[in-house]
Amino acid sequence: MLTDVHLSSGGVLLRQIELGDCTHSYVSWLEDPEVNQYLETRWSEQTLESVQSFVQSQLDSENSVLFAIILADDGRHIGNIKLGPINEHHRHADVSYFIGDKTMWGKGIATKAINLVCRYGFSDMNLHRIEAGAYAKAIGSQRALEKNGFIKEAVFRQQVLTNIGYDDVYRYGLLADELKRI
Ligand SMILES: CC(C)(COP(=O)(O)OP(=O)(O)OC[C@H]1O[C@@H](n2cnc3c(N)ncnc32)[C@H](O)[C@@H]1OP(=O)(O)O)[C@@H](O)C(=O)NCCC(=O)NCCS
Repeated sequence: MLTDVHLSSGGVLLRQIELGDCTHSYVSWLEDPEVNQYLETRWSEQTLESVQSFVQSQLDSENSVLFAIILADDGRHIGNIKLGPINEHHRHADVSYFIGDKTMWGKGIATKAINLVCRYGFSDMNLHRIEAGAYAKAIGSQRALEKNGFIKEAVFRQQVLTNIGYDDVYRYGLLADELKRI
């Protein structure tokens, strides 16, 4: 889904990802076991070609938009956030994200990026509901969702296999009037 929308708040800028964002750093984030431990990308080898192919598939997609998370002060690409797939009948979509540059963890960036994407989804894309999943062990991800007003609605018991055994997955949901001001 092509869009030239730019979203920004508190030093965090989101713009649609470009093929030029597919760098060796991007590949190295996805190859880092600390970064990828809760990402499904860990199941396949990540290369420049596979990342480019994924980005192109998102640019071609009719029902999802992939944003690059950029630091506004130096223009550095540090992670991605995706809105989609979007269900056009029911007007709901998933949000998923990662901050690949570990030096930028714990600075409120994922919280802001989620807020920007949800605001855009509700106001510009006429979504009624936004959903997300988080492994039970992915505390940072859960906190970032909860700070935005997401409500934990379901537990899928032992749904995913991690390097230390099966883990539960929590499903979160958010309605427009529940989105917090960040
Ligand atoms: C999870 C992730 C997105 C969090 O991004 P972030 O920008 O560091 O998150 P924020 O700084 O917005 O933090 C949100 C809250 O979570 C807390 N938090 C962040 N990482 C945490 C961790 N590892 N353990 C416990 N709390 C954590 C923060 O302290 C903050 O809470 P607070 O304001 O009450 O202190 C990031 O660490 C990441 O991309 N990890 C690897 C990929 C991943 O797990 N993606 C999500 C898949 S579900």
